[in-house]
Amino acid sequence: MSLNRIQIALQKNGRLAEDSLELLKNCGLRVVRSRDDLFCRVKELPIDLLLVRDDDIPNFVSSGICDLGIVGENVFSEVGQTVEGFSAKIVERLGFSACRLVLAVPENGAIKSVSDLEGATIATSYPQLLHEFLKKNSVSARTLNMTGSVEVAPRLKIADAICDIVASGATLAANGLCELTTILKSEALLIRSGQALSVEKEAIIHRLLARIRGALGAEDSKYVMLHADKARLPDIIKLLPGAESPTILPLQGVADKVAVHAVCREAVFWETMEQLQAIGASSILVLPIEKMMG
Ligand code: PRP
Ligand code: ZN
Repeated sequence: MSLNRIQIALQKNGRLAEDSLELLKNCGLRVVRSRDDLFCRVKELPIDLLLVRDDDIPNFVSSGICDLGIVGENVFSEVGQTVEGFSAKIVERLGFSACRLVLAVPENGAIKSVSDLEGATIATSYPQLLHEFLKKNSVSARTLNMTGSVEVAPRLKIADAICDIVASGATLAANGLCELTTILKSEALLIRSGQALSVEKEAIIHRLLARIRGALGAEDSKYVMLHADKARLPDIIKLLPGAESPTILPLQGVADKVAVHAVCREAVFWETMEQLQAIGASSILVLPIEKMMG
């Protein structure tokens, strides 16, 4: 591995994997997958990707094998609290792959609240986060460590409850389980090694980070164009969600109307468009923004 290329650890398979590659694509990085699929070189910037199990990502970054990583907050928190001398740091919260770490129990069972977990056995892949939660709530319970299929443990009668990730809730429902409480809310994180890197590497990270922020910012933003009665301009501008100072342009041959162009940093709903129309806006266009910078 070249000294002046950035190594990024990404999840090999799973939900996070797709979203991570999508983000890099939106940053203008085309990923050329190698035959074994574990290592890819990016052409556009001096970046290499290591495709690994998500549990390995925090350690790879903390120990300096990789300079950056994209990983779920759930895994980052669990590994971060388990490993001594853990030094990886959060650079940016990425917003995608949202999920929650929850405690769940069989529907209509005896356990109705967190305090009912006293003396129970809880199956989990997140023993450290579970341990912290139980300690904070003064509950003593046994932990059964499992690396997958945690949701089947109550049916197998090897655990009374589980502590696992919920995204859509389909897995819990399919296994007759219901949530007791949320332990951690999680999203994808961009993490970096805590060690100082070369000036060259820092420059690449700086450039990539600007692109990531630009790509994420563009996702939520819209470009709005409309025609407005000059007299209602202040009210119309007030209605534009999260808009910076808009551009006002004259309209050929129409004296009492102008064109308004604005970047809205928040979602533009149908309700907003209806309100705009009600106070004299017409030809309202809401356009997606692909990239943003500056
Ligand atoms: C997680 C979790 C559940 C499922 C929940 O597993 O362990 O099995 O997702 O998602 P849902 O609420 O949308 O049904 P994941 O798919 O990440 O794989 P793993 O358990 O093998 O790590
Ligand atoms: Zn699972």
